[in-house]
Amino acid sequence: MTLADEVVSSFDGAASPRLAELMTGLVRHLHAFVAEVGLTEQEWTTAIDFLTRTGQKCDEKRQEFILLSDVLGASMAVINANHPTNGAATESTVLGPFFVPDAPEFGPDADISAGAPGTPCHVRGTVRTPTGAPIPNADIDVWQSDETGHYDVQYADLDHPRARARLHTDAAGRFSFHTIHPEAYPIPTDGPVGELLNAASRSPMRPAHIHFKITAPGYHPLTTHLFAAGDPHLSSDAVFGVKPSLIVNFSSHQATYDFTLAELPPTP
Ligand code: BEZ
Ligand code: FE
Repeated sequence: MTLADEVVSSFDGAASPRLAELMTGLVRHLHAFVAEVGLTEQEWTTAIDFLTRTGQKCDEKRQEFILLSDVLGASMAVINANHPTNGAATESTVLGPFFVPDAPEFGPDADISAGAPGTPCHVRGTVRTPTGAPIPNADIDVWQSDETGHYDVQYADLDHPRARARLHTDAAGRFSFHTIHPEAYPIPTDGPVGELLNAASRSPMRPAHIHFKITAPGYHPLTTHLFAAGDPHLSSDAVFGVKPSLIVNFSSHQATYDFTLAELPPTP
């Protein structure tokens, strides 16, 4: 019996079979990793210190562990495993740290920028079923950076939401809003994740995008972005969130996109 076998069998008595399955996989991969790279004690200590400081960087606003998961591509791997598109639904991407619930509600064609600096643009589209039928009254959250690459919540002195809104589709599944062009920005680099990117000579930049979170009864919730075509960071997104199907043209200050939500199985 190997050491890994011994550790795995120590979880045999777990009340939850799923816990036993998860810990078995984790232990097997962890032991294989240690053997494969020949991990030194010094490296193990460095890794423990890194993870300790990652935890110490977390508070109610900052989640350095999710950021670590993002830059390791683990967040996207979990999203991909849990949101199959079946060739029809719009692809998902990361939520990110800048979503705020209960954003102000706006009607069709409203200006959601609320004074955020940037070049004006108009965004419109529809929310549809996999067969192309409109989904009326879908809830849409949108949020984005301004021309300086900052979200409203990153300004210490700002007391109202900017470039952030809750919208609803009309009877024909349509939504539309005036806003500003989003700008590329770096993920937070003042913590251990920033050190890791720096040590790896990796870019902290995310290509310009607008976040969408769309929900409608009977459909899988969709969390995604629309990325601006031509952004120089599209092929080096720090969190691996770009999918070609989510890249849109913001030229002529207009962007159009039709979202498709996957149907939930009928409840018995
Ligand atoms: C964002 O797009 O807002 C984001 C996503 C992951 C990490 C940091 C920011
Ligand atoms: Fe973002």
